[in-house]
Amino acid sequence: MSGRKRARTVVVTGASAGVGRAIAREFARHGWNVGLIARGEAGLHGAMADVARAGGTPLAFAVDVADADQVAEAADAVAAFFGGIDVWINNAMVTVYAPVRETRPDEFAHVTAVTYLGQVHGTLAALKHMLPRDAGTIVHVGSALAYRSIPLQASYCAAKAAVRGFVDSLRSELIHDGSRVRLTMVQLPAVNTPQFDWARSRLPRALQPVPPIYQPEAIARHVYRAAQDAPRELWIGAATWKAILGNVLVPGLIDRYLARHVYRGEMTQMKAAARPDNLYEPVDTDPGARGRFDARAAGRVAAADPRWLKLGLAAALGAVAGATLFATEAQGRAEERRRLAGRDR
Ligand SMILES: NC(=O)c1ccc[n+]([C@@H]2O[C@H](COP(=O)([O-])OP(=O)(O)OC[C@H]3O[C@@H](n4cnc5c(N)ncnc54)[C@H](OP(=O)(O)O)[C@@H]3O)[C@@H](O)[C@H]2O)c1
Repeated sequence: MSGRKRARTVVVTGASAGVGRAIAREFARHGWNVGLIARGEAGLHGAMADVARAGGTPLAFAVDVADADQVAEAADAVAAFFGGIDVWINNAMVTVYAPVRETRPDEFAHVTAVTYLGQVHGTLAALKHMLPRDAGTIVHVGSALAYRSIPLQASYCAAKAAVRGFVDSLRSELIHDGSRVRLTMVQLPAVNTPQFDWARSRLPRALQPVPPIYQPEAIARHVYRAAQDAPRELWIGAATWKAILGNVLVPGLIDRYLARHVYRGEMTQMKAAARPDNLYEPVDTDPGARGRFDARAAGRVAAADPRWLKLGLAAALGAVAGATLFATEAQGRAEERRRLAGRDR
């Protein structure tokens, strides 16, 4: 699978469907060479066609990100073919929807191997090519759930939190080494992707993203921008900001909110149908970027660098503290005046 040489090159893991497919198309729209990594041939062929149609040059690899050697070989081949790797996007994932007590040890291990270690393998493969050039950007596709785990997806939430831990260590090391290789982690809200029709599930009803839901193309535009600007993190969607900040301020309240509302919010009213799942093998079809939630998914979403959100929150808390202090002092002065007036009488 090949194409002709062009200037800038991105590699996207999990590029055959969902968010990764939309990201691949977004880079192609800007004329990039796009290395596509996923397991299923059908989705990879669809993604190659999408990239070529959008104006990019595709190069695809049927690779399992749980296998570090396969990922490294794909990275070497991309770098050799296009002359380097400018941006690497760690996006591939699998999950298991089930209560912890019903999730098997091998399932925890495999979700970890793909969703967490897959990002480690991608990063190692990218660094091999970026460090000698002292240039390049690695984007980690994360989730609000990297900060705040939800019920029924412990294996996935823990893997996303692990990615955040890994990225923070590496960032400090790069700063220590004076490296110009950049890292950015993008925390996503719920997205309308095929995930909900092929993730392994033991839940009684069909799956859904917990609303509000956004289209993968809206997310891809932010990911493209993050790859250019490399903010430390980018939080996409108000639901993401609320989940992360709320968990810092009132984690106990969030525990109970998730138990009461989000537990059942991860399912639709429809009874779960028997279907294949993508945990160990791809479901080798080509659904494209979007899932079945078009009618409920917004085509635009706001994103913010959390530094500004935290500054805003600190300013708001400062204003409340200032107003409380002012009111307390004013009350004290009024009481003092009343006391003096009573004494003079
Ligand atoms: N959808 C959401 O609501 C949501 C919310 C927050 C964050 N995210 C994040 O967005 C990213 C993409 O999620 P999505 O919803 O787009 O998922 P998706 O629709 O299930 O697509 C997953 C992609 O990863 C590939 N993949 C799965 N296992 C792989 C493996 N072992 N090796 C290589 N590729 C593999 C799949 O292709 P093959 O099966 O053919 O390999 C597919 O291309 C993930 O990082 C996820 O955590 C999604």
